[in-house]
Amino acid sequence: MSAWWKSFFDEDYLRLMSQAHSEEVNTGQASDVWSMLDLAPGCRLLDAPCGWGRLSRPLAAMGATVVGVDQSETLLEAAEAQRGELPESRLRYLKHDLREPLPESGFDVACNIFTSLGYGTEEDDAAILRNLRGAVRPGGRVVVETNHRDMLCAYLARGASSCRRLPDGTLFTDEPEFDAISGIVRLHWYWSGPGWSGEKHAEWRCYTPTQLVAQLERAGLRLAGAYQGLSKTPYKAEGPQAGGRLALVGVRDD
Ligand SMILES: C[S@@+](CC[C@H](N)C(=O)[O-])C[C@H]1O[C@@H](n2cnc3c(N)ncnc32)[C@H](O)[C@@H]1O
Repeated sequence: MSAWWKSFFDEDYLRLMSQAHSEEVNTGQASDVWSMLDLAPGCRLLDAPCGWGRLSRPLAAMGATVVGVDQSETLLEAAEAQRGELPESRLRYLKHDLREPLPESGFDVACNIFTSLGYGTEEDDAAILRNLRGAVRPGGRVVVETNHRDMLCAYLARGASSCRRLPDGTLFTDEPEFDAISGIVRLHWYWSGPGWSGEKHAEWRCYTPTQLVAQLERAGLRLAGAYQGLSKTPYKAEGPQAGGRLALVGVRDD
């Protein structure tokens, strides 16, 4: 796969996704992370990748000391611009390729949220998870929250495709194609709205829950829990969404 992700997360992505995730949604998800992990004020949290800081910000506002890491300069600039009153001592951002070891360690928790694996090779993902493990303290946790193959297949089996109107009037369509042999999803986004229109294409590796657990373990993390999205409800592959989104929690045991 090409390194599409180096240019995908640009101004267009930001305009689309920041409308798809209102501040209310972001604050709600940050609260879900907080209660799922029983976080306490003062905890050190690595948000990696952090995108435009949509979760880093509310998590820092709730009392965590947050470092947000991402490779996209555009998204990091937006994150900085939206930091509000939060001082650097509570929230910092860092441009970094997560396939490389992080320059800081000792975090209580590292979060990899909103389908942020599978963009390159399996070895790239193994490196990212190893680096997140290396960034948390012994006993620290790594959380991976993601879409997965069982959910995708359930969605495609219903003939579903997603089309929604964003707050600025843009009509946004997502028409994924799935190659079940390679396990690769080809993502096709199209949008049209006031003053703009465009398309974006990408491909990502859609793991099964079993493969994701194997990736965590390969990175030296012990599986401590599997949940339905960012919740405390244990994951069960049931219902029309095959359990919905999956959050895995791995612990660094040494
Ligand atoms: C789907 S977004 C999720 C971001 C954030 N967790 C959220 O919930 O909004 C995926 C992010 O991964 C970042 N990313 C992809 N590959 C990366 C890498 N190798 N190193 C650092 N960031 C990466 C992208 O720039 C993008 O911001």
